[in-house]
Amino acid sequence: MMTDHGSGYACVYASVYEKALADSGAFWLDAAAGIDWVTPPTTALDSQNAPFHRWFPDGEMNTCHNAVDRHVAAGRGDQNAIIYDSPITGTAYNLTFAELQQATARFAGMLRRYGVRTGDRVIIYMPMIPEAVVAMLGCARLGAVHSVVFGGFAAAELAKRIDDCQPKVIISASCGHEPNRIVDYKPLLDEAITLSQHKPGTCVIYQREAVIASLVDGRDVEWHAAHEGAEELAPVTLKSTDPLYILYTSGTTGQPKGVVRDNGGHAVALNWSMPHIYDTQPGEVYWAASDIGWVVGHSYITYAPLIAGCSTVLFEGKPIGTPDAGVFWRIIQDHNVKVLFTAPTAFRAIKRADPAAELLQHYDISSLEYLFLAGERADPDTIIWAQEKLGVPVIDHWWQTETGWSICANPMGIEALPVKLGSPSVAMPGYEIDILDDAGKPLGPDELGAIAVKLPLPPSCLPTIWGADDAFVEKYLTNFPGYYETGDAGYRDADGYLYIMARTDDVINVAGHRLSTGQLEEVLADHPDVAECAVIGVADDLKGQLPLGLICLYPNCAKPAREVCAEAVDLVKSRVGRVSAFNQIVVIDRLPKTRSGKVLRATMAKIADNVDWTMPATIDDPVILDEITTALQSIGYAK
Ligand code: COA
Ligand code: AMP
Repeated sequence: MMTDHGSGYACVYASVYEKALADSGAFWLDAAAGIDWVTPPTTALDSQNAPFHRWFPDGEMNTCHNAVDRHVAAGRGDQNAIIYDSPITGTAYNLTFAELQQATARFAGMLRRYGVRTGDRVIIYMPMIPEAVVAMLGCARLGAVHSVVFGGFAAAELAKRIDDCQPKVIISASCGHEPNRIVDYKPLLDEAITLSQHKPGTCVIYQREAVIASLVDGRDVEWHAAHEGAEELAPVTLKSTDPLYILYTSGTTGQPKGVVRDNGGHAVALNWSMPHIYDTQPGEVYWAASDIGWVVGHSYITYAPLIAGCSTVLFEGKPIGTPDAGVFWRIIQDHNVKVLFTAPTAFRAIKRADPAAELLQHYDISSLEYLFLAGERADPDTIIWAQEKLGVPVIDHWWQTETGWSICANPMGIEALPVKLGSPSVAMPGYEIDILDDAGKPLGPDELGAIAVKLPLPPSCLPTIWGADDAFVEKYLTNFPGYYETGDAGYRDADGYLYIMARTDDVINVAGHRLSTGQLEEVLADHPDVAECAVIGVADDLKGQLPLGLICLYPNCAKPAREVCAEAVDLVKSRVGRVSAFNQIVVIDRLPKTRSGKVLRATMAKIADNVDWTMPATIDDPVILDEITTALQSIGYAK
């Protein structure tokens, strides 16, 4: 048990949680003392414009200063800030806090030279290299709002994000490295800019060794050339409520939602999370094996560890195949990692490749104290395997792009609560959770319903969707007035442990990545031979879920069905990206629907997974489900 940060008394989970509930203003102002402010906040929360709540409205600060400069000033200049290890390219080197300070200062000066001012947007479309983190922090230093786009998305997805946030500058690289191929980023970027209505003024391109990209005259500039002679900028003073970044995430349609993160609330919550949830102190090594394109990467590769004065590992590789299923153990040993955070799918991949964890024998992982898992449901088999092989607590925790830190966790720095397999444990301070029925009535223990969080949400949670206040209210705050609707369904047991069972919307989770089935359907429907379609998530041993398309062809379709399926798969990969993992389609005669025309996706998913299902009372024609079952069986499901 540790001493509560800021208030100096020993505490256990329940007392901390109750304290945040009883007087959230005092609780979060106390936590805010862990951050350097230019103007310390006197007020915790501004709810004058509810349901738009703003944290620390009169506070002024800079996130990059908190992640970098303050540690240099405190004597940590020589400590590693970024530990870069890229087994995929055979490269490894570190950046100290002093080096990171200089790099971000020059990056900010470079951006300003290209006309970027506080509040302007900058898209970062980069592989997992230290320059990507420098770019994020350099934007934060200047007060430019970054939007990182994951490298596995196709040009059309990048174009949507360019049009939505209208960046003045795009930062990219010539290529990324996947185990079996090189991903040429630059042609994707060029295509995206051709597709988008908005055109960025400048693209700064980091040329990697494997590919030298050709640059567009007058628009593109090479990374080092762009930096030449750039002034080193001091962090700009920003309002706590100013936006730090926009991160797009899948919703129910093809249009991604731009989740906005503020500066002050985000820094305070993330700084609080490091000692209290992850039991990690300044100077220790923290490794989130994710990608900076996802929220886990934003919060726990870049911001939280650095704000807390830890060293963060930036890993460019995969859990298997770079070169083998021992790479995680090698990284832990080589860099003295105390906490590893990844998605369960990474451990399922390792377990499948090396079931007895024989490769572990070659490494000393005694520095490791915790494994944290999130991003998807952590199946008990994987947790037990990891517990047995690693001999450390394995902690499942639940959160979303929208919140930026965990809604439920087992707070290792406050009190190690008993682990219950299948549960990400209990609500974190500031999250007042109810399980609601369809009418919005709170349900009792063990009753399944929609998981909702009472407003106001704690610091770091999204204040709105970029440029779409109405959509924010409609998507999250309308179904259950007074609550934020998480989109997850589940239940809470009598001890207050949450169990996350399913999404209530058309979002599926593939290898810890969130995908919209609606988005995939929009692309499939664009194929000229596809009359109707549905996409469902089917269970997969490795990735948790995989998308499966069901298509009905026009009666006059002249092509063989197999050809249409192959074209449709290619269409999805080229429009959405390889990250969709979309490889399976089955052709059917008609889709099962309710009498009002709603496609019965959930029923089809249950049939595919061969779990209990009941005939929907409102089904139009029950016979169709027999046809669907036969079709699914023909491709190995519904057995
Ligand atoms: N740039 C370009 N393409 C990318 C990419 C990137 N940054 N990341 C993934 N892709 C591609 C992959 O090459 C793959 O293409 P392919 O199907 O044509 O081979 C496709 O997108 C799907 O990627 P992924 O779902 O990651 O599957 P995988 O088979 O390459 O790897 C795992 C499977 C389990 C090893 C991998 O998902 C993993 O490491 N997961 C760790 C957890 C994680 O990162 N979670 C994120 C949130 S915490
Ligand atoms: P993302 O916003 O991409 O991080 O995805 C968030 C979604 O992933 C959540 O709404 C859940 O559906 C799922 N998720 C994340 N963490 C967990 C977890 N620990 N257990 C179950 N589902 C999770």
